This record gives sequence, structure tokens and C-alpha cells, in this order.
Amino acid sequence: MATKTLPSWDVITKHDVFADANHDEVARLNFLTHLNVHLSANVLPGVKNAYETQVKPEFIKAQGHEPENRHQLRAAITQNHTFQMWSALRRNTMEMRQQAGRAQVLRQIEDIVAKVEHYNEGADTLKLDESIAIPENVGSVDIHCQPGCYYTEYFENDVTVAASYDLGLFVTTAGLLGALSDGGGQAVGKWLADNHPDFQPKRILDIGCTIGHNAVPLAQAFPNAEVIAVDVARPSLRYAHARAKALGVNNITFVQADAENLSQYQDESFDLITTAMFWHETSDTAMPNILKEINRLLKTGGLTLHLEQPQYQGMGVYEQFIRDWDTYYNNEPYWGPMHDLDLKDMLSKCGFNSDDLFETGVVSLVDEKIFGKREKGDAGEDYGRAPVWNAFGLWKK
Ligand SMILES: C[S@@+](CC[C@H](N)C(=O)[O-])C[C@H]1O[C@@H](n2cnc3c(N)ncnc32)[C@H](O)[C@@H]1O
Repeated sequence: MATKTLPSWDVITKHDVFADANHDEVARLNFLTHLNVHLSANVLPGVKNAYETQVKPEFIKAQGHEPENRHQLRAAITQNHTFQMWSALRRNTMEMRQQAGRAQVLRQIEDIVAKVEHYNEGADTLKLDESIAIPENVGSVDIHCQPGCYYTEYFENDVTVAASYDLGLFVTTAGLLGALSDGGGQAVGKWLADNHPDFQPKRILDIGCTIGHNAVPLAQAFPNAEVIAVDVARPSLRYAHARAKALGVNNITFVQADAENLSQYQDESFDLITTAMFWHETSDTAMPNILKEINRLLKTGGLTLHLEQPQYQGMGVYEQFIRDWDTYYNNEPYWGPMHDLDLKDMLSKCGFNSDDLFETGVVSLVDEKIFGKREKGDAGEDYGRAPVWNAFGLWKK
């Protein structure tokens, strides 16, 4: 059943290092969130209709067949006004989210940095390393139009990019990640508890943790485990560490490291290795290097599990085209090439037994703080709108 309540940005959980928001900022973020909901719920169906009734028939008339792949479809649809309107507005909501978030953070950056410093000072659970270079997949593009990507810093202890990411994600995901933007990690914890209750990892590695949105619920699901969360982006790690502490989570060590080379960790030294929404931001050289490291680091009997959007293989041409929008219009150049990969092939090239690969949906609960309580008569489990996350993984035998 359709969501009845429009998500309000202001119900987001404001942990101690979260940026303040004044009336006008809340209004702007709500406007952008609701515009995104409107675009996907009401405008996007018009793009499909324009494709079916105008673009496809014209293509067939000219070519004698339907578009055979998403590239042909995209070439044909780019002159269509309905597509142009939806695409331009979608790009603009992202640009506006980034600029609004950045301005909101910058007007109070000294206060945020001071709070972050309070949590980080002298902590041995934050390990920064200035010698770590930013890899090309991160350094060559401001991913999803985020000024400065995840790593740029302009002054000592800068966390601007990270604080802005934390407050802006809700706008793009329209609350579906939950009030702490951690629905993915929560879903992994729930999936493990439901399906593998005896699996109690002692050492967990989360790769590409950014600000720890999904490492934190994992650490909460396994409070006795030692969690290592790595990323190359120093401002994100500073903020992640302070955010975790502010949320009362103490069993994560945030480490600045390039996941293509984690030689500081021994072979078979982790029981569980995770990523969340990570692979689509890695290149065709970075991804195999990181997978080989995962294979080396994972214990026999251990699990590696990855939340990611589904691969394109077997998907209809129109759905592929829509999902591929980010590749061309949202500064996500690795998105399409990554989702085109044959995962089995990639995993076996990196030393895994690809017969062990499984793909599954992991389900997170709807956050009542955002969407309200289930009403009498609502269809299906969890309002019929529980977010299902696509995951792939394998147990190392
Ligand atoms: C889309 S974000 C991941 C989101 C995050 N996992 C979450 O749960 O919200 C991708 C992250 O991967 C990091 N990254 C990309 N390549 C990396 C590498 N080779 N080593 C470590 N981190 C990397 C980026 O800096 C960025 O923070």
C-alpha cells in the first residue's frame, strides 16, 4: 500500500554531532524531500508512459525492432520532453540537497568541529594515517554531486563533507533508510539473527564505512565483537567516530586505510566482512583488488555480505535504463559498469568459489518515527512497505 505520511526531515534523529537546523533550513529540506517523493511517485510513471506510447513506437518505426539495450533506449529518449523534465528536476534536487546541506553545515562548522573533537580527542579507536592516498575512483569525481566528495578538507579537523552527507541523505532516500539512515545495517543484523542465529562473529570488518551509518547497527547487533570500519576519507572517519560515540557505540575502531591494500591485517583474521552501497563507487581495477583482500582476510567458515542495488543481468531494458540514470546524470560513473558485471565471474577471478555465491533480500523495519504507526486495515506485514535490501554474499568453506 502507498505511504500515507509524507516523510518530514525534522523527525530525523539528531545525535550530538548532527548539524542544527533552523526553520528555513527544515522547510527547504522538506521541500526537497517531498519533491523527490513527487518525482518518483507521480512524474516517473509519466516517463514510462512517454516511452511506451511515443519513444518506443517511433524507435520501432525507424529501426524495425524495440531497443535492444539500455544504451539504445537512452539515445532515443533523451529528446523526449517528459524524460527531460523528470531528469532535470531529479538532478536539481540532488544539486540543491548538496548546496543546502553544505551551507547549513558551514554556518555552524566551528561548533560541529568542537563537538567532534570532544569525542575524538585522544581516542585510540580513531586511527588516521596521512600517508593514505585517495584512490582514483574516489578522487576523480565528486560522487553524486557532493562538493568535495567524501574526503576534501579545507582546514584542520574539517568534517564539512561528512556532516552535510549525514543531514542530506534523508532528502534523496525520502526517509526510507530510517531516522538514523541506518536501515541497511539494521536489516543485516536482523537477517543474521533470523537466518543464522548461531553465527556470532568476533571480528567484523566494514569496508567503505563513510560516516558509519551501517557499521553502527552492526556493532550494536554484535556488542561483544570488535568492529573495524575502514575508509580512505579522513573527514568522514573523524565524524563517523564522533557520531558512533555520541550514539553510545564503543566497539568500533575507525581506520583510515585503502581497502585495496589492507596488509596491516593478517590472513583469515575476520569472521564477517561487509560493505553497504559501496561497490557501485568502485572502478574495474579497485573492485577486484578489494575482493582479493576480502578473500584473504576472511576466515574459513566466515561470511562476506554486501548490500548493493541489484545487477542488471536478466532485468528488462527499461528498468535497466531507469536504474542507470545515476551513471549519466548523477556523477556516478562506475554505477553502470559495476551493475553490468557478472558477479560469479568476478568472484571466481578473485579467488572465491563462486558456486557459494548467494543473493537475497534483507528486510528492515519501517521506522515508525518517520512513517507513523501501522493503521488498522493496512495491508501486508509491516504496512506493506518494508524496505527490502538487495544483498549478495558467500560463506567461505
Ligand atoms: C557510497 S559510500 C559507502 C556508504 C557507507 N558504506 C554507508 O554505510 O553509508 C562509499 C565509501 O567508500 C569509500 N571508498 C571508496 N574506495 C575505497 C577504498 N579503496 N578504500 C577505502 N574506502 C574506499 C569512499 O571514501 C566512501 O566513503
